[in-house]
Amino acid sequence: MTIPLEVHLDAETQESALRADVVAGLTDTPKWLPPKWFYDARGSELFERITELPEYYPTRAERTILAEHAGDIARITGARTLIELGSGYSTKTRLLLDALRPASFVPMDVSPTALEAAAAHLAVDFPDLPVHGIVGDITRHLGFLPAPAGRLVAFLGGTIGNFTPAERARFLTDVRAVLQPGEHLLLGTDLVKSPRMLVRAYDDASGVTAEFDKNVLRVLNHHLQADFDVDGFAHVALWDADHEWIEMRLRARWPMRVTIPAVDLVVEFASGEEIRTEISAKFRREGVAKELSEAGFTLDHWWTDPDGRFALSLARATPSR
Ligand code: SAH
Ligand code: AVI
Repeated sequence: MTIPLEVHLDAETQESALRADVVAGLTDTPKWLPPKWFYDARGSELFERITELPEYYPTRAERTILAEHAGDIARITGARTLIELGSGYSTKTRLLLDALRPASFVPMDVSPTALEAAAAHLAVDFPDLPVHGIVGDITRHLGFLPAPAGRLVAFLGGTIGNFTPAERARFLTDVRAVLQPGEHLLLGTDLVKSPRMLVRAYDDASGVTAEFDKNVLRVLNHHLQADFDVDGFAHVALWDADHEWIEMRLRARWPMRVTIPAVDLVVEFASGEEIRTEISAKFRREGVAKELSEAGFTLDHWWTDPDGRFALSLARATPSR
């Protein structure tokens, strides 16, 4: 079954954005790449496998909270439209859909394959639910979200932690700008905890996260005709205690020269040199409340799983003064 999607990212726009990010990130010191380029079809699939790993607790913890509080969320928000940003396969979202029984569901993601898979699965379990998938970048395309009254915007998984603090502030302000006072944001955030548990979650024994990390190099090889020797890079996950975030990096195992014809770039790597591929910030309640408030939201409810690993915040768009 093919599900029609509203597309704001055609292949050409995506490739020119990828080219710009690659030039900016790989000519910088230290080198970096934005995490959104992990998620081609293979990357989205690898992420789904990560969510099932014994070491990767965030998905299970968030699902526990949703199972416990989806009814509260439905009752408090009374939302008729559920919007999900960075929705991926929308697996946990079913708990919300079950409780809310909304008039429509609007998932937005950069990955068309994830959106198609989500819509196809939802069509089986929620045959009467209109699903309006939007292929878009949540940092650029929030203006295309539909605006019926009574919306709940869900941003789950802790994906907000993959933004830098400045990106986070801009993103939350942008979400607030598309909402009416009284509409809601449901925000998933992973919490600060023992570095040992965190590092294990991002460096699993079976190597799925390493494959996910390296997938960004395969994306560059495929779309920009680059010649990265993917196995010449080692996956690294480390805890940055000052910033309270996990950093994923790819470390060159030996000196390398990589050619990227689509951007006319030759990139030199010294042995041991790293590319930062992702940050995954971990939060505390006070910080989340402050960031939400600065963006024009009031944090009404804060729920965690019984082990206190992950939090769901239900925030209301505050009337602007
Ligand atoms: N919400 C799901 C998936 C999280 S994985 C869950 O909780 O399990 C992160 C998702 O965000 C991926 O599907 C990825 O494609 C999407 N994503 C990352 N950056 C994005 C961006 N800038 N715009 C839209 N989607 C993005
Ligand atoms: C999507 N995001 C919240 C994941 C995270 O935990 O930061 C991406 C991920 N990276 C490695 N494992 C999972």
